[in-house]
Amino acid sequence: MNSIAPPSWPWSPILYGNVIENVKELDVLKQADKLFILMDDNTEKYCFPQLLPALENLDYKSIIIRPGEAEKQLETCQEIWRELIKGGCTRHSLLINLGGGVIGDMGGFCAAVFKRGFSQIQIPTTLLSQVDASVGNKTGIDFMHIKNIIGAFSPPEAIVIDPKFLQTLPRRQLVSGLAELIKHALIYDRDLWQRCLSFGKALASPTAFVKADSGSCSYKMRSS
Ligand SMILES: NC(=O)c1ccc[n+]([C@@H]2O[C@H](COP(=O)([O-])OP(=O)(O)OC[C@H]3O[C@@H](n4cnc5c(N)ncnc54)[C@H](O)[C@@H]3O)[C@@H](O)[C@H]2O)c1
Repeated sequence: MNSIAPPSWPWSPILYGNVIENVKELDVLKQADKLFILMDDNTEKYCFPQLLPALENLDYKSIIIRPGEAEKQLETCQEIWRELIKGGCTRHSLLINLGGGVIGDMGGFCAAVFKRGFSQIQIPTTLLSQVDASVGNKTGIDFMHIKNIIGAFSPPEAIVIDPKFLQTLPRRQLVSGLAELIKHALIYDRDLWQRCLSFGKALASPTAFVKADSGSCSYKMRSS
């Protein structure tokens, strides 16, 4: 029996560093017929001002949802799809997911199935989403209290990682991301473990952590 091998999933480019410079360079931004930005109340307040200079001369529509895992569900997707329809979203539009893993997972999923899929980019703003959730093409939502039970594999056009976003992150969220890094380092990556050991004092504040981090982010890509 002849069989056709499924396509291997492409890896999206990771652009690490200054978010303004990196977003301005993205062709997909200029090519999109409509631009949408999904964020939650916190990322609108703390992260959107850092992205804004990259959007000058571009028309865009903001979609703002409430923060938290409880929002990663079908009702919120319906709100997002409604806003996309009202904003005239087409298969040639672009969604920017500006936020932590909740925004990334849910925005990625909403884009993956709306009109059978349109382009999205990930701009992760928590440590967990920078080191893990935004990389790997997994999108999805929770349903009937089961995490990530509905979803799709959907590669973003790009993943734009700027450690500066972490400066406003509550320390609890920083520690949550670091736990993920440590887990990965212990299993796969001796060098990363050495860097994790040096984070001790830097964990006193997100600003100090950003200075100490020097590129641990995107470990998931490097190790794959
Ligand atoms: N797709 C994957 O491969 C994958 C992997 C791991 C985790 N996940 C998912 O990621 C989610 C958890 O992600 P998370 O920990 O980023 O949580 P989150 O997205 O809920 O963000 C945590 C909190 O931080 C706030 N926040 C985000 N960025 C901020 C910033 N720069 N400054 C101040 N506040 C900010 C958010 O508003 C939220 O209140 C879970 O739903 C999990 O299932 C997905």
